[in-house]
Formats: sequence, C-alpha cells, structure tokens
Amino acid sequence: MSGRVVIRELRTPEEFFETTHVSKAAWGFAERAVSPATDLVAATHAGGLTAAAFDGKEMLGFVHGIPRTNKGEPCQHSHLLAVRPDAQGRGLSTRLKLFQRAWCLERGIRLVTWTYDPFLLKNAKLNVGRLRGTVRTLLPDFYGHIGGIYAGLPTDRFEINWRLDDPLVVRAARGEAPPPDGYADVPAVTRSGAIPYDVPRVLLPFIADAPRVYRTDPRRSLAARTRFRKLATALFARGYVVTGVTVREGEPAYVLDRTRKNSLRIRPWPALP
Ligand SMILES: CC(C)(COP(=O)(O)OP(=O)(O)OC[C@H]1O[C@@H](n2cnc3c(N)ncnc32)[C@H](O)[C@@H]1OP(=O)(O)O)[C@@H](O)C(=O)NCCC(=O)NCCS
Repeated sequence: MSGRVVIRELRTPEEFFETTHVSKAAWGFAERAVSPATDLVAATHAGGLTAAAFDGKEMLGFVHGIPRTNKGEPCQHSHLLAVRPDAQGRGLSTRLKLFQRAWCLERGIRLVTWTYDPFLLKNAKLNVGRLRGTVRTLLPDFYGHIGGIYAGLPTDRFEINWRLDDPLVVRAARGEAPPPDGYADVPAVTRSGAIPYDVPRVLLPFIADAPRVYRTDPRRSLAARTRFRKLATALFARGYVVTGVTVREGEPAYVLDRTRKNSLRIRPWPALP
C-alpha cells in the first residue's frame, strides 16, 4: 500500500464489479455465494451505500448497506464489509464503517444494523469492542444451510444495532479507546438453569478459535451453537444487552448488561438439525 488510502462512494459499473473480487479474497467463498455486482448497483440506486477504500485505482475493501426502516425510523442494514487479506489489520474496516456512519448521519439516518456469526472473535471485537455496537437479538439459522465450514451448523447470527449518535459510539468514532477491561469478577452464565434475573452484568462465554473448530469438530460446533443459542436468547428475553467482548483465561465471552426493557424481537426457534 502506498499509504494514501481514500474512502469514497463507487462511481462506475467496473468498480461495482471489483467488489466481487474483494469479496472472494476476503471470504474465500467455500460456504457462501458472492453477492452479484448488479444487486449492489440496484440497492445503491434505491438509496443504499456502496463505498470502498482505494489505494490509487486499487480497491482494498468495501462496505455495502441497504435502506431499511425500523418502526418507521429510516435506517441502513449493512449487508457486506470486506477487506482484502493483504490489507487487513491496518484499520481499513474501521475507516469504512466510520465513512458509513458519516454518510448516514448526513442523510438523517441514525441507526445501522448488520449481522455476524457471534463465534467470530475478530468480528466481535470490531463490531462490539471497537465500534461499540450493541446486540439484543439472536437470529436463529438466519441464512439457512450454507455448507463449507458451516455444513450441518445453523447459521445463527447476532444482529448489531449501531446507534450512530449514542455517546459511546460518538467517542469510539473520535478514536477514543474503550474502557479498560474490568470484567474479572463478573459471573459467567454457562447453564440455562442459572440465568439470572437481577444481576446487573454477566458474561456469556463462547468457543475460542471457532473457524478451526468448525472445520475439525462439527459435533462440538453444533453443541456449542445449540447451548449458546439457548443462553443468549434467554438472556435477551430477560432484558440483557451485549455491550462488550472480553477474553478471560483464553476463553472469549460477551459482556451483557441488564436493561429495564425486554427484547421484543425474539423469533421462534427453527428445529436444529
Ligand atoms: C473483519 C474484517 C472486515 C476486518 O477488517 P480489517 O481492516 O482487518 O479490520 P481493522 O484493521 O479495521 O480492525 C478493526 C478491529 O477489528 C478487530 N481485529 C482486527 N483484526 C483482528 C485480529 N486479527 N484479531 C482480533 N481482532 C482483530 C480489532 O478490534 C480492531 O480494532 P483495533 O485494532 O482498534 O483493536 C476483515 O477481516 C474481513 O474482511 N474479514 C472477512 C469478511 C468479514 O468477516 N466481514 C464481516 C465483518 S462484520
């Protein structure tokens, strides 16, 4: 990279087509289909956003969001975020998300949502730790069967709510570091019989190194998925919200804080395979 990376909206059909190459490089696509450039063009035309990080003419990563509403409030659902492997770890995804935030705020959009696999620690650190998105919904088997390393595994997803004008999000956008990790004494929830009602803060552990476990141990992966779904759904129903992510003695865990309002968006569980 030359160091002069520019983030801007896409301008030409060729640039939209280039997103498919970046997607293939970022995801590998053993387990999901690439989103066609024509879909991105249509969604952008309909009020969505497709913006990319360019080093000269070279596209290093991109973000794509589609318009949605939430009880009448205009918002954006961020469908794709990808950075080429050779450009990862240099803050580009953060810059792309902050570009998306500024773009949305300029248009009166104050909520951005997206989904991700809750067992991916890197994504959790970006979405919850760095950007300060929160989660109050688990979407069971969101994409259905997608094969590859997810073969036989329900595609459960956390839905991020990124409240763009939340004071914590504003501070994160300014580059202020999250508060130091102070979760040593927070109790961990590991059994559905032990879901608390009145503890202000709990930890919800999840498996470490999930992509490797998916590849090597499908049984353990499914058991972990099933247990996590039960616990997360029960905690959300009791008004807990994911506000952080931490790693304690090598085990990653979400930090959940109790709010007064219960989640209203729990979907019924489909049958597990
Ligand atoms: C997830 C992805 C977009 C991150 O892109 P990136 O440009 O490498 O990310 P950044 O350098 O901006 O890092 C952003 C944050 O992610 C987390 N992160 C990034 N790489 C990480 C790693 N290897 N391990 C742990 N956390 C990591 C960190 O919290 C980091 O913030 P910090 O450096 O301030 O602590 C990229 O890895 C990717 O394209 N993955 C495949 C596609 C994908 O999963 N997209 C969905 C994203 S929700």
